[in-house]
Amino acid sequence: MSALVGVARLEVSYADIPVVRGVSLDIHEGEAVAVIGPNGAGKTTLFKAIAGVLRPCGGEVRYQGDRIDGLRHYETVRRGVVYVPAERELFPQMSVLENLELGAYVSYKSRAERLSFVLGLFPRLRERRKQMAGTLSGGEQQMLAISRGLMARPRILLLDEPSTGLAPFFVSEMYRQLARLKQEGLTILLAEQQVPHALSFTERAYVLENGRIRLSGQSRDLLGDPEIQKSYLGVA
Ligand SMILES: Nc1ncnc2c1ncn2[C@@H]1O[C@H](COP(=O)(O)OP(=O)(O)O)[C@@H](O)[C@H]1O
Ligand SMILES: [Mg+2]
Repeated sequence: MSALVGVARLEVSYADIPVVRGVSLDIHEGEAVAVIGPNGAGKTTLFKAIAGVLRPCGGEVRYQGDRIDGLRHYETVRRGVVYVPAERELFPQMSVLENLELGAYVSYKSRAERLSFVLGLFPRLRERRKQMAGTLSGGEQQMLAISRGLMARPRILLLDEPSTGLAPFFVSEMYRQLARLKQEGLTILLAEQQVPHALSFTERAYVLENGRIRLSGQSRDLLGDPEIQKSYLGVA
């Protein structure tokens, strides 16, 4: 089976300082895959390079078999590779609806249909659709960031630490909604600090440390791995 996204020997640097160092990974259609690892491991940099936000200095990224690592971000979005940043990057002075419509810039024709899809998925956003994004709670802002990504009709969603800053109730709620998206066939690559959530939600996971893949496998095996438990799950 060929991968939906295939990353091979990827290298990404900031001003000659290597941050992603020879990373290879595959994501198949319909899978949810986690990338876990400590702060500064290179997760965000890896995601941005896959999505075309950053240009790698070596290796390749393939999507449906084609090289996409030379493409601009809007070109990868148009093909269905959508990155949802940890910082959310909403427009706080614009309404929920306006933020969502901005997410549809690559698929303007299907905008109405997408809008009813995401508002159906997140009824709370429907209730607050006229409210300024900046007045939403952290959990609602995260829902909006994900929904804005969904407006672009992704085949694969790259979610960067979606649980950051959320109250535990919202984290569980958000994972329930992500599970629905997954059931509908969306492929998800997830970076998380909430390792138990990430490993329960995904089928496979990669452990990134210092820009390299240190370990990978089935998420359920990693949940039971003594080294993972010690480093990431706070089990002595
Ligand atoms: N814009 C940047 N310029 C220079 N260094 C950066 C920049 N962004 C991140 N870094 C560095 O790259 C490394 C990896 O960061 P990052 O990809 O954000 O890791 P993670 O998402 O796993 O926390 C860190 O050492 C970080 O300080
Ligand atoms: Mg990060």
